[in-house]
Amino acid sequence: MAKPDMLSGQWQAVYEGLCERPPRLNPKWFYDARGSALFDAITRQPEYYPTRAEEEILASQGDSIARWIGPDAQVAELGAGNGEKAVMLLRHLERPRSYVPTDISSASLEAAVHRIRQAYAGLTVEAVAADFFDGLPWPETLSEEGRCLVFFGSTIGNMEPAEAENWLRRLRRSLKPGEHFLIGVDLKKDPAILNRAYNDAAGITARFNLNALVHLNRVLGAGFHPERWHHQAGYNAERGRVEMYLVATEPERIRVGEHEISFRPGDRIHTENSYKYTIEEFHQMSRRAGYRIDAVWTDPRKWFSLHGISVE
Ligand code: AVI
Repeated sequence: MAKPDMLSGQWQAVYEGLCERPPRLNPKWFYDARGSALFDAITRQPEYYPTRAEEEILASQGDSIARWIGPDAQVAELGAGNGEKAVMLLRHLERPRSYVPTDISSASLEAAVHRIRQAYAGLTVEAVAADFFDGLPWPETLSEEGRCLVFFGSTIGNMEPAEAENWLRRLRRSLKPGEHFLIGVDLKKDPAILNRAYNDAAGITARFNLNALVHLNRVLGAGFHPERWHHQAGYNAERGRVEMYLVATEPERIRVGEHEISFRPGDRIHTENSYKYTIEEFHQMSRRAGYRIDAVWTDPRKWFSLHGISVE
């Protein structure tokens, strides 16, 4: 466990979140090494369609996306994970020049760099360890021509809509005219499909959700008993989002710094929102943030979308 003085900011944020009504935890707590591995496993569950649908778009419409991006591209990927989708995109590009994966997890970055170097020997690969929330990752060594930002996976859905719009606006200010932004967005659909996607039969999403408590125990010594909690996820149609909670099944008392917090059976901690958009809702948001809408690609069922937006 790290020293208390290094953690006071983190403690404070966790404590304040858990004191809200309903209590909440930042979804960043999902992603330690085990959580990232569990997320990878989620993407292979039969019920979790977003990854397959996005890959289907890249495979079947990659040529059209590549024409939009243009030749000699320099691609920077926000939250690159293991670089699997970038490989699928680069395959279609004409003479791509460079690839800049960025991620907060250095283990993921190493995997992405390794994967891309194996697949594309002549490509310049420069990894940047950064939180995509903090802005653009262009290394100074890259020239400005042909730059394209990509953000796959509908991770934008994990932000509150106002936060997502502000983030798009901030990125917009640091993009130059002519630069492209390819962004994946999960679409609104039959709630039964959404509910299944976040409640897979193998229980991987449940383990992913509960891992936030294991992570908090390791980093902050919070003393959660994960076996006293269960996973709950469901689509809230009014708010257009899948909500994930951890629900206490027994009394629980935990510690955050010098504070103690008690939970009763039935108390819920809100751990994640995953917003779903219609194509039009996303386009309106992008326009408000100052982008031009160039193109949209979807899978045949219209479950997932990739948007080509740019700066004039
Ligand atoms: C990373 N993010 C887009 C995932 C999602 O679908 O919102 C995280 C996730 N949570 C549960 N399953 C997957």
